Amino acid sequence: MARFLITSALPYINGIKHLGNLVGSQLPADLYARYQRGRGNEVMFICATDEHGTPAELAAAKAGKPVAEYCAELHEVQAGIARGFGLSFDHFGRSSSPQNRQLTQHFAGRLAEAGLIEDVVEKQMYSNADGRFLPDRYIEGTCPNCGYDRARGDQCENCTKQLDPTDLINPRSAISGSTDLEVRETKHLFLRQSAMRDQLTAWIDQKTDWPVLTTSIAKKWLNDGDGLQDRGITRDLDWGIPVRKGTEDWPGMEGKVFYVWFDAPIEYIAATAEWAEAQGLDASAWRRWWRTDEGADDVRYVQFMGKDNVPFHTLSFPATIMGSGEPWKLVDYIKSFNYLNYDGGQFSTTQGRGVFMDQALSILPADYWRWWLLSHAPESSDSEFTWENFQTSANKDLADVLGNFVSRITKFCRSKFGEVVPEGGHHGPAEDTLIAELTTRIRAYEANMDAMELRKSAAELRAIWVAGNEYLQSAAPWATFKTDPEQAAAQVRLGLNLIRLYAVLSRPFIPDAAAATMAAMGCDDWSWPEDVAGALAALAPGHAFTVPEVMFRKITDEEREDWQTRFAGVRT
Ligand code: MF3
Ligand code: ZN
Repeated sequence: MARFLITSALPYINGIKHLGNLVGSQLPADLYARYQRGRGNEVMFICATDEHGTPAELAAAKAGKPVAEYCAELHEVQAGIARGFGLSFDHFGRSSSPQNRQLTQHFAGRLAEAGLIEDVVEKQMYSNADGRFLPDRYIEGTCPNCGYDRARGDQCENCTKQLDPTDLINPRSAISGSTDLEVRETKHLFLRQSAMRDQLTAWIDQKTDWPVLTTSIAKKWLNDGDGLQDRGITRDLDWGIPVRKGTEDWPGMEGKVFYVWFDAPIEYIAATAEWAEAQGLDASAWRRWWRTDEGADDVRYVQFMGKDNVPFHTLSFPATIMGSGEPWKLVDYIKSFNYLNYDGGQFSTTQGRGVFMDQALSILPADYWRWWLLSHAPESSDSEFTWENFQTSANKDLADVLGNFVSRITKFCRSKFGEVVPEGGHHGPAEDTLIAELTTRIRAYEANMDAMELRKSAAELRAIWVAGNEYLQSAAPWATFKTDPEQAAAQVRLGLNLIRLYAVLSRPFIPDAAAATMAAMGCDDWSWPEDVAGALAALAPGHAFTVPEVMFRKITDEEREDWQTRFAGVRT
């Protein structure tokens, strides 16, 4: 049994995520986690809310709540929606946890001991109009690298360059829009990433099997003269992890907190510690996933994230891990995504444009969304959500192909043989041909899932469903039954077994429908079809089943038009 540590980029706490966020990290991570569990491997699937930083403070202020209370509430909201989407985290943690505080302070202490932290008296933007220092994200201006005029002080969303607020041309306050900014001095800690350039380069250079999207972004900033600048890891904020050197005070840093991007990825580790505590297990239970000296050397660690997160995961977080000089697990594979656009424009949280996770669940079950999003994931380029495309794929793939197959077989069986797997007859050439085709396709499906090729995996799964339909169409048990009921029984038996097989194979994509079908088949055997012929004999003659409810109803034109109008504007 292999062991897989799987993390999804941590959704920021300040609101409900849209479908573009979902498809860029949590959903594909869930697909992979479910698949690896389905193959019988040991999986630790971790996610959490990313709770520190100015956006949390500001969102709480807007909601009129203390920030700790706001974060606790939004964490529950996000956890509930994640359950609604079937996201099967082993633990959904919080970056504000005591575990993360302890680990973040620990890493900072180790980095300081290794001589990788420097005190810098920084000049920082102070907004007279807002009466406060303006951290990174709350300064907007023109990107010095690409000229994009809405770049944020921490990163340019357009070209992914990591920035410092003072790099921006024509800076303004993102809170008030005020340009009445002045530079004031304040002392901060910097992580000497530049001292680790060789180590990071050597590490990235080994990753020849990584997606080009990941390595191209990493290499761009490694090779670019200032892409690996030393980065400030502290901030003048109230809300965050207090700056401490391990368990000791850090002279001169009183009242300051760590930068949210310093503590957030450490939460991957801390959330696993939260999991252990919640399970009543001791520290060795989580450390065997994270410490190569305590069992994690045989773990394969895979991260999922949108492309804007790649620099932090290929440079900054590895610099923290490597710089600690301790045997923490480094990521083995980073699957990154382009952006999903919405109906001719961008999904936007700040502008409330697109479909948000709670809204999506309020109009259709999760599986419709999971199927569309995963089968149209923005892998090789940005992709676009349109209501027409959504309606067409759901109706065709889920209702016409899969749903229809299940319904025809079970209803036909009920009418001629009753709700039990019929006996008699045996496989002929048509069945052997189908089994051979399925074997080839299932092996291809596995290869694509192993490689995290989402679109290819979805296409193969669809082809597996189609193969069953085509078999049914040409075997035509309803016609066979008239001349050779035994032969019809064998055909129907195979069909019923195909339904179980489809539940197993489809479960990573559409877990709720898979569970409902499996239950209707009166079965709980989720074992992976290593041997396809064997898997297609799992339901023996005499085994009772029930005709399932309609698996996927069709989306009507009226509904589509209604949703199109409802979600055309902005969410307020
Ligand atoms: N919250 C960040 C975002 O939404 C992602 C953080 S991923 C982390 O872009 F784990 F590294 F924190
Ligand atoms: Zn730019």
